[in-house]
Amino acid sequence: MYICICKAVTEKQIQQHLAEGVNSYQELRERTGVATQCGKCSGDARSCMRQHQSSQNVSLYVP
Ligand code: FES
Repeated sequence: MYICICKAVTEKQIQQHLAEGVNSYQELRERTGVATQCGKCSGDARSCMRQHQSSQNVSLYVP
């Protein structure tokens, strides 16, 4: 499922980056481009990060 239409970023891609060690929203934006255009996907991208944080019991910086 696409999280970011503008940059064609899927939920799976976000999960992959998080699994590879991305640990902040800023880093996720830099790596994927998510939420760097219209910004409408910002909430969903953060939600993805929080889900990963809960399920993997890791600490992420999600402002
Ligand atoms: S939908 Fe992600 S920046 Fe527009």
